[in-house]
Amino acid sequence: MTQQIFAHFPASRMRRLRRHDFSRRLVAENKLTADDLIYPVFIMEGENEREAVPSMPGVERLTLDQLLIEAGLLVKYGVPVIALFPVIAQEKKSLLAEEAYHPNGLVQRAVKALKAAYPELGVLTDVALDPYTTHGQDGIIDAEGYVINDTTTDILVKQALSHAAVGADIVAPSDMMDGRIGAIRTALEQNGFVNTQIMAYSAKYASSFYGPFRDAVGSSNNLKGGNKKTYQLDPANSNEGLQEVALDLQEGADMVMVKPGMPYLDLVYRVKQHFGVPTFAYQVSGEYAMLQAAIQNGWLAEKPAIMEALLCFKRAGADGILTYYAKQVAQWLYEEGHKN
Ligand code: PBG
Repeated sequence: MTQQIFAHFPASRMRRLRRHDFSRRLVAENKLTADDLIYPVFIMEGENEREAVPSMPGVERLTLDQLLIEAGLLVKYGVPVIALFPVIAQEKKSLLAEEAYHPNGLVQRAVKALKAAYPELGVLTDVALDPYTTHGQDGIIDAEGYVINDTTTDILVKQALSHAAVGADIVAPSDMMDGRIGAIRTALEQNGFVNTQIMAYSAKYASSFYGPFRDAVGSSNNLKGGNKKTYQLDPANSNEGLQEVALDLQEGADMVMVKPGMPYLDLVYRVKQHFGVPTFAYQVSGEYAMLQAAIQNGWLAEKPAIMEALLCFKRAGADGILTYYAKQVAQWLYEEGHKN
C-alpha cells in the first residue's frame, strides 16, 4: 500500500529547493527588472516647482524643468518609458476640450523637451479629454451629461495627432470610446506617423481606485461626484474585457492594458493567455495610496511589499507595469547591481 511505502518520508519534499538562496534563485519563474516599468508623471505649468499630491504621498506634480531632471534619472536607472499626465489650469478647460490638441500645449511642449534632451527615453502620452473638460469627463457631453462617442473620438484623433507631431513614441487612449483605436490608427497612417505605437487602455474599469489620480490632475472637483460608468467597464465583468481587447487589436493597437492592476490580475492572466500580445497593467493611484499609507504607518515593509506587488503582475502575465513606484524600484535594482 502506498501509505506503507511512504511511511517514513514524504513522496516529494517541495522544501528541498527552497532551502538555499542559490536554488531559490535558480528555479525562480519570474523576475522584475527596470525594463518592465513605465513611470507616470504629473506635469504642470511654471518653473522650478514641485507640488506634493496629498493623497499620493511621495508623488509630486512637476514643472517641465523638474521633469527633465526626473527623466535623466529614469535613463540612468534603465526605465524604458515615461508617461505624461497634465494638470491643466481651470481657465484652459472647456466643453470642447480644445486645449487637448493645442500644438504648443503643456503635454506637447513636454514631449518636445523630453525627446530633445533624452531621445532614448520612450515617451507615452495619455489620449483622453478629462484634464481638459470643465466637467472632468473623458469626452464631449450632451445636455444630459452623456458622453457622445463619435464626437469625442474626432477630438481624440486630433489630440493623438498633436502628440505624434511633436514626437510622442506611444499614444495611449484611456478614454474607452468605441472605435477610437481604429480612428486614431487610420489618422496616424494617413499623416505619415506609421511608427507611432498605440498602447490601448483596453480593459479599463469604472474603478474607485482612480480617486487620488483625479486629485493629482485636478479633475475630481470638476467631476462633482460623477462617475464614468457609461464608458468604462463594470468591475463585475471579465469576458467583456476580453472583447474590448479583441476589438482594440483588430483596430490596430500594438499593446493592450488592463487597469486597475492588483484587483484585476485575473484579467491580466486571461488577456495574456488568450491573445499572447504585449500586455500591460496599471498599478493605479489608489493602489499606490493604499500601499503608501500602510508603509508610512509601519504596517508594511516598504521594499519587500512593493517588490512583491510588482513581481506578481509579472507572474499573472504582464509584460510591463505602469507604476508610481517605477523610479524607486529601478533605483533599488540599479543599486543592487552596483553593490561591489
Ligand atoms: C484619464 C485617466 C485616469 C487614469 C489614467 N488616465 C483617470 C480616470 O479614468 O478617471 C487613472 C490613473 C490612476 O488612477 O493612477 N482618462
